[in-house]
This record gives sequence, C-alpha cells and structure tokens, in this order.
Amino acid sequence: MSKPQNGEPGSPAGAPAADDPEVVFQVPGPTVSFSRLHYSVMESKGLCHKTGPEKHILKDVSGIMRPGMNAIMGPTGSGKTSLLDVIAGRKDPAGLKFGQVLIDGKMVTSDLRLISAYVVQDDILMGTLSVRENLLFSVNLRLDPRHYSTADKQQRVDSIIDDLGLQDCAHTKIGTEFLRGVSGGERKRCSIGMELITSPRLLFLDEPTTGLDSNTANHIINLLHRYRQTTSSTYCIGTDRPHHQPTA
Ligand SMILES: Nc1ncnc2c1ncn2[C@@H]1O[C@H](COP(=O)(O)OP(=O)(O)OP(=O)(O)O)[C@@H](O)[C@H]1O
Ligand SMILES: [Mg+2]
Repeated sequence: MSKPQNGEPGSPAGAPAADDPEVVFQVPGPTVSFSRLHYSVMESKGLCHKTGPEKHILKDVSGIMRPGMNAIMGPTGSGKTSLLDVIAGRKDPAGLKFGQVLIDGKMVTSDLRLISAYVVQDDILMGTLSVRENLLFSVNLRLDPRHYSTADKQQRVDSIIDDLGLQDCAHTKIGTEFLRGVSGGERKRCSIGMELITSPRLLFLDEPTTGLDSNTANHIINLLHRYRQTTSSTYCIGTDRPHHQPTA
C-alpha cells in the first residue's frame, strides 16, 4: 500500500488536494444499501426475569446511501442510532430478524471494519489525555507502523488539529467529572478527528453537531464536506435536525 500524500496546506490529513489529478482515479466511496430491516431487542424485565417482551426498534426500513453525504433524519427516539448501528454491523446479529445490508451490492463481511469508522453519539475520549494525545493514540492504534513513520503520524495529527481548529486547546486535557477540560464543541471535534484521521472510505457519524452552536455545527459540516470530497468517500450522518437552519 502506498503512503497517502498530503495535499495543499489546510487540506484534510493524508488526503490529496481536490485538484490533484490522482483524485480522478480514486475509487469512489462504497454504496450502502439496506432493505426491509427489522431489528428488535429482548427487553430485560426485573432482576429475576432475564428477558421480557420483544421490543421492535426498526420496522421494515429500506434505503440507499451513495458516495457523498447522506443523512438519516428523525426526531429523538426514532431509531437513527439503531439504524446506523445495524448498517455498521455494531448490533447483535440475533436482533436482526429480517432484511439485509449490502455494501457495493455484496453482503457485509468483517472487512467493513477495515474501510469504515464510526463517530459515536456519546464521545469516547480519554479525559486525562490532551486533545493531541487522544489524536495520537487513535493514529497509533489504527495506522500500520510498517507503512507510516512516527513523523507521518505526527504530521497527520498536526494537520487534523489545524483543520478542526483545535490549535488553542491541543494541549488541554479533555477533562473528566473531576477535572475541567475542553469545551463540548472542542470535545466533539476531537472525537470526529479521531475517526477522520485515517481517511475512512465509509464514515458513520451519529449526531456530529448535536449540542453545538450553529456556527460550530456549520464549521463541522463544511469540514466533513471538504474531507469527503477529497477522499471520495461515503458519509452516513444521523441527525435530528437539518444542517442549514435559517438564522434568526
Ligand atoms: N437495547 C435497547 N433496549 C430497549 N430499547 C432500546 C434499545 N435500543 C434502542 N431502544 C429504543 O429504541 C428507540 C430508538 O432508539 P435510538 O437510540 O436508535 O433513537 P435515536 O433516534 O438515535 O434517538 P436520539 O436522537 O435521542 O439519539 C428508542 O425508543 C430506544 O429507547
Ligand atoms: Mg441517537
């Protein structure tokens, strides 16, 4: 595998610039299709009864997500996270009673994990590490040391810190319940950065802008849009609101 080259300054980490002729030959992101999904869970009822009645979460859900930005929109509790989880293969297969998920027309295999990344709704970050340390942790964990040198990884981290506008808090600890850390928006941007840093071909984002002010939300959506264009990938975003909201 050849090492990705960075594009112009400010272009996404590890991604070629949009006007790079190589982009023309990039494989477009995967097409995800799902048909007639029925997903249910067995609710636990009390301490003695391990399982209670079956609760239907997804009922006959079908759709297609093509290379580009795709949104799953719906009010809270409508099943956005559950649908993203089922598509991404993060749910117990026993719960999927009916229906199938195809990537580029083929059944999903464990290879999905190699090409995809998932920004979960509730961020999972290490509170006692700084923003930069969390990003370094992610890149060290995911990029093969046989193909990427320490300098390459550090360059990716620096680049993503710039892209996400995290320069001012790069050395601030994320924070825990006992330790005040970065703001909610910075925390969210850091968790998105931890997944974007490997330039995945298929990226699931659950509520990437929830809880952010409209300016920061707009910044994040623009950034995702830019990354997506340069990496020619497929982004699936679960959200409870449209991102182009009218301003007051
Ligand atoms: N493991 C589970 N056990 C019981 N109920 C569940 C389980 N998982 C999901 N649900 C229920 O399924 C419904 C959909 O949940 P889900 O988290 O997918 O909604 P959502 O659209 O992502 O909501 P939000 O916008 O608040 O994140 C909810 O009513 C939730 O309570
Ligand atoms: Mg959700």
